[in-house]
Amino acid sequence: MSGPVGIFDSGIGGLSVAREIRQLLPAEHLLYVADSAFVPYGDRTVDEVRARTLAAGRWLQAQGARILVVACNTASGAALELLRERLSIPVVGLEPAVKPAVAASRNGRVGVMATVGTLRSERYARLVANYANGSQVISQPCPGLADLIEDGHLDDEVLHARMAEYAAPLKEAGVDTVVLGCTHYPFVREQIAAALGPDVRIVESGPAIARQTERVLREAGELEPGGAGSLRILTTGDPAEVGAVAARIWGEPLPVQHLDLVHEPAISEVR
Ligand code: DGL
Repeated sequence: MSGPVGIFDSGIGGLSVAREIRQLLPAEHLLYVADSAFVPYGDRTVDEVRARTLAAGRWLQAQGARILVVACNTASGAALELLRERLSIPVVGLEPAVKPAVAASRNGRVGVMATVGTLRSERYARLVANYANGSQVISQPCPGLADLIEDGHLDDEVLHARMAEYAAPLKEAGVDTVVLGCTHYPFVREQIAAALGPDVRIVESGPAIARQTERVLREAGELEPGGAGSLRILTTGDPAEVGAVAARIWGEPLPVQHLDLVHEPAISEVR
């Protein structure tokens, strides 16, 4: 067996990406790190997100990971270049699927739901500048939504009230396509769709990042040839709490272990 595919997110959101990778590459062994002690990244400073993401990337590389999949839009927005500079394994990142959403939209009005951190990043500004292609892109920050999902509010009144709040400006703007720009959101996709109404198309990035992971491994001649793969989850938070919600969104129990992940305090100073 070769080394695992390292996957990283601030919490359980990246499991929406792990699910796609598992489906496309069932022979791979996935080693997933959830930085639950520091979730949500969306409300943290860029320096903090960089420091945590680099610590996780280094740890996964030290475990023999052949590739790092940053299954978090916020961490990718803040730290992708830094990771590529500091790690020796290939790094695949993720960004809101603005380009396919613009291509799919019929009325030229596209909404993006994401964390505050993602929407304020330079990467996101570049993405919109490069791919809006004359369409109007309405960015909708959703502070607190990832936390609700982490806490298991997957389909209750608390979640529905928050959904209605975030959907209102998008409906007002008349968008016909909405990007799920955070890996937590696919787990409440139906609830988001219900809040937006039946005529709005929803676009997410999980399948594309799985295909990119496959491509990078194939081109490096590193694809696991066969056999049954696996998924192992480590959290910097409480394994029992994380395991309970992870089992609900995955549909079966998943073993979760604790991981201590120490980060360099001021990543901007060591750059
Ligand atoms: N899952 C994450 C993302 O894709 C971040 C959620 C958070 O920690 O705020 O942006």
